[in-house]
Amino acid sequence: MDYLKIFDTTLRDGEQSPGASMTREEKLRIARQLEKMRVDVIEAGFPAASNGDFEAVKAVAAAVKESTVAALCRTQDRDIARALEAIKPARSGRIHTFIATSPIHMEKKLRMTPDEVIVTAVNAVRFARNGIDDIEFSCEDAGRSELDFLCRIIEAVIKEGARVINIPDTVGYNLPEQYAERILRLRERIPNSDKVTWSVHCHNDLGLAVANSLAAVLAGARQVECTINGLGERAGNAALEELVMAVRTRQDVFPCDTRIDATQILAASKLVSGITGFPVQPNKAIVGANAFAHESGIHQDGVLKHRETYEIMRAEDVGWNANKLILGKHSGRTAFKSRLRELGIEVDSEQILNSAFTRFKELADKKHDIFDEDLHALMNDEAMTPAQEHFRLVSTRFHSETGETPQADITLAAGSVEHHASAEGSGPVDAAFKAIESVAKSGADLLLYSVNSITTGTDAQGEVTVRLSKEGRIVNGQGADTDIIVASAKAYLNALNKLQSTLERLNPQV
Ligand code: KIV
Ligand code: ZN
Repeated sequence: MDYLKIFDTTLRDGEQSPGASMTREEKLRIARQLEKMRVDVIEAGFPAASNGDFEAVKAVAAAVKESTVAALCRTQDRDIARALEAIKPARSGRIHTFIATSPIHMEKKLRMTPDEVIVTAVNAVRFARNGIDDIEFSCEDAGRSELDFLCRIIEAVIKEGARVINIPDTVGYNLPEQYAERILRLRERIPNSDKVTWSVHCHNDLGLAVANSLAAVLAGARQVECTINGLGERAGNAALEELVMAVRTRQDVFPCDTRIDATQILAASKLVSGITGFPVQPNKAIVGANAFAHESGIHQDGVLKHRETYEIMRAEDVGWNANKLILGKHSGRTAFKSRLRELGIEVDSEQILNSAFTRFKELADKKHDIFDEDLHALMNDEAMTPAQEHFRLVSTRFHSETGETPQADITLAAGSVEHHASAEGSGPVDAAFKAIESVAKSGADLLLYSVNSITTGTDAQGEVTVRLSKEGRIVNGQGADTDIIVASAKAYLNALNKLQSTLERLNPQV
């Protein structure tokens, strides 16, 4: 049985999604969860992109002990030196260097000849070898590169000491059979191909990222690059949870398995969704709210009689607790804390625990049944530390009546000063945002507004996502409450706080 390595790039490629930019603390929280899930390699960022990203990679490298920490860099000495410096504290570090190899990228973007690209790649690996042994080399846009050229450049970098060769389908252009064929041919034709681990990195532009990655595994790839919830550039990367569960569920087909602790998958998904503000669609495989819900009577009947009639995986194996009722108004602090731990949420500060427990009690006063999803939402809210919170919602009053213009009266604190504002709008949410804007005067553009129900029932909390853009910066804000207008106001303020925050958000692309 072969071993399939999971290389998670949520903190690097995932962060390149518009608005998914994270702070150092946020990256650290996600890295700890990835380590707990037993991810083999965590790509923590692109140190040469900004000082903030350099510091974040360094912090992740210092904190993570059980996974390898990788840093991305172009094939320039300055980039590589910066990446080497950032991963110095790691117990196990990796340099991931890349250069484009497709005709269109070499000619139009790099303006280099193929021979120059080979020399640059070889020099980069040689330079990196002075600092580290674990070197991964990626042929950017390999999915559209010429096979002969790939063979030449890959053979040369392996000779120079690269240990992992990554074949990215950067623009998500390939089809599974074609991509698998590419991996097979490269492995067959390159004389020193057995000296390295073959890795794949697929984008989802045609919705084929997971299918392409799995086809490549069958063709001999033994590392897959992926992200939690499939986050990433444009349509995203291959989703970690789908890859891991496909390989595990179809052991009759795959000659390999990962060492991932799948029971941590849901906690990772919730954490990434909460931090980035990218909600998970209900019908998303593995981690969507409906992924294990059986609606039709025939299906329910079948599952009750024999679970495997309609289920190929067990919900609990990926961290679901079947929407189990867990806590209520009378639950104590110890029960609250231990449930959080069971959900994979570690709270290391007493102050945060106390404040989260107070919120939990407030929620339990409004809502009889508190589900795991409520706790995840509550802890995501809690993670917004006071230091980042310039704007805070103090109180709200809304008036909405048939035939009348909706009106919102809002009291909010900006720093230590309280402001009151009233506004009318085409609906109560519009009125609330206008009232907030009359105080905040951010001038930001609203790019996206969405509401999801966290659990079932009319007393469910609504989880609102608001995406704002200002002067090229895009941020996502989230808020949850049983009152969706209040959740909307919280989400708007959360996004404003991110725009306002002096904490550097680390989007390598900016
Ligand atoms: O998609 C891509 O080609 C990449 C490389 C940097 C690996 O993200
Ligand atoms: Zn990518």
